[in-house]
Amino acid sequence: MKKLTSETLRNLYLKFFEDKGHKIIPSASLIPENDPTVLFTTAGMHPLVPYLLGEKHPEGKRLCDVQKCVRTGDIDEVGDSSHCTFFEMMGNWSLGDYFKEEMIPWSFEFLTSPDYLGIPVEDIAVTCFAGDKDCPKDAESAKIWQKCGILPENIYFLPKSGNWWGPAGTTGPCGPDTEMHVIRNHAAADKLNSLQFDDAPKGTFLEIWNDVFMQYNKTADGAYEPLKQRNVDTGMGLERTLCILNGKSSVYETDIFEGAIKKIEELSSHTYNENEDVTRAFRVVLDHVRTATFMLGDTKGIVPSNTDQGYILRRIIRRAVRFGRNIGLPQGALKEVAATFVAKYEKVYPELKFNSAHIYEELEKEETKFSKTLQQGIKEFEKVAAALTAGGTIDGLTAFHLYDTYGFPVEITGEMAREKGLTVDIKGYEAAYAEHQAKSRAGSEQKFACGLADHKEETTNLHTATHLLHAALKKVCSPEIEQKGSNITEERLRFDFNFSRKLTPEEVAEVEKLVNEQIALDIPVVMKEMALDEAKAQGFTGLFESKYGERVKTYSIGEFSKEICGGPHAERTGVLGTFKIAKQENVSAGVKRIKAILVK
Ligand code: ALA
Repeated sequence: MKKLTSETLRNLYLKFFEDKGHKIIPSASLIPENDPTVLFTTAGMHPLVPYLLGEKHPEGKRLCDVQKCVRTGDIDEVGDSSHCTFFEMMGNWSLGDYFKEEMIPWSFEFLTSPDYLGIPVEDIAVTCFAGDKDCPKDAESAKIWQKCGILPENIYFLPKSGNWWGPAGTTGPCGPDTEMHVIRNHAAADKLNSLQFDDAPKGTFLEIWNDVFMQYNKTADGAYEPLKQRNVDTGMGLERTLCILNGKSSVYETDIFEGAIKKIEELSSHTYNENEDVTRAFRVVLDHVRTATFMLGDTKGIVPSNTDQGYILRRIIRRAVRFGRNIGLPQGALKEVAATFVAKYEKVYPELKFNSAHIYEELEKEETKFSKTLQQGIKEFEKVAAALTAGGTIDGLTAFHLYDTYGFPVEITGEMAREKGLTVDIKGYEAAYAEHQAKSRAGSEQKFACGLADHKEETTNLHTATHLLHAALKKVCSPEIEQKGSNITEERLRFDFNFSRKLTPEEVAEVEKLVNEQIALDIPVVMKEMALDEAKAQGFTGLFESKYGERVKTYSIGEFSKEICGGPHAERTGVLGTFKIAKQENVSAGVKRIKAILVK
């Protein structure tokens, strides 16, 4: 097995697929575009859903990338050897082009060839779909694996729970998959048949790669209908693979975290391996600071707040502060740890360097804010906990008080409670929160399921309205205005932009008038694919710090609006209805938010 660094592995993967006719595309933002169903990009396929459903991709039918992903479902587990909230997923896609016959031999070559990962064939186990009423057994994949050289006894068949992939619990493109595992314990593996695969002792198999053969669209009524095109979607976790290749027992021991560990050792009075508790605290700080760095440094960066993505970011930073204090990290340490990640990743993700001042400033601000109340909050918590016996419950009002007065996200209170054998009445907390008229988080929690880009007519129209709004704001308020964030649901659009003050009522009226004029003119919305440089030269606006994205889609609405954008859009402005600004909000000192609707 080859020992590789993160840089080499990333490059090797992209090069391998580039040589097989794939275009390397840049990582999309961590914040999904126009997709209200999820808070963060959770897999490499997520930004590609429209293309998996049949829309044409400007770069063609063979794509590969390394995608920034965030999964926050297990934040409280972070601190063990494997959980991370941020990770990079290497992936390649066939959009109605090649299928199993090509993909499996490529996977085999990349995994086993001495030019690539060099994993011995006998150390690889694969799983294939066992078949059920929706889709037949995937004997075809197994046959191809065997032809490549995988030993028949290392091929297992699992049901949907193991060998089916689609964004969790939602409708959309999905299909049987074949997963590749490195066998770490042959004695244990040899004893197992397919039915026992899931019961293998921990560490017997380490999953390394997943090839999904997307052939179905799961409809809202639970049916699986064949897709217009057969796709391939693969995903290989970068950190995990590094860990396996280098024989490390934890992702935190790979080169990715080296600089950050040194920095934490330097700033705290501890060493990473000192004891279990210290290692856990190190890992929480390492993971959470890295995730916060990527969230703040994203092209559609977010800042800590009390709702949606901002709340997750706040929770992550505050958890890092709490664990950091346990190992003596001084005030201001987080931004220094963040700087090691900016240095480690800046060549691959230039946005981190570009936004570094913002990253450090926001980390510092949030750390300072929470540090002010942390000690007092802990004291308060200790008092409450002391009054309870083991197995007791902290009531909702108290949990809310800890949040409202001391800034303890309820999940942190929950974790501290668990450490003492207590629980928190979450329902009671939510009731107290709702009663206090703070914005309920319940809605945002639902967004954790991985969802799909929404192609409903209402959202498509609002997407086009967003372009008109953007252009109108530039004309009415300032040509310097740029999009800082966008989120669209069926009911409304939300647009964040750089501006120092709220719009006056006159400006609001003028923006609405300009947008409605464009709607009344029933202008066609024209999509053209072109090279990024050409798009720039023609005055299309968009995010230009992409490294690889050579060809892009552009949308113009007459001469009024010209944007680089993935779509989809209405065909003509006339279908939009009447545009109305419903609300203005303050996001931060330099960023304002408009919520707007279309009335039919
Ligand atoms: N989308 C697939 C996964 O995340 C490849 O495993």
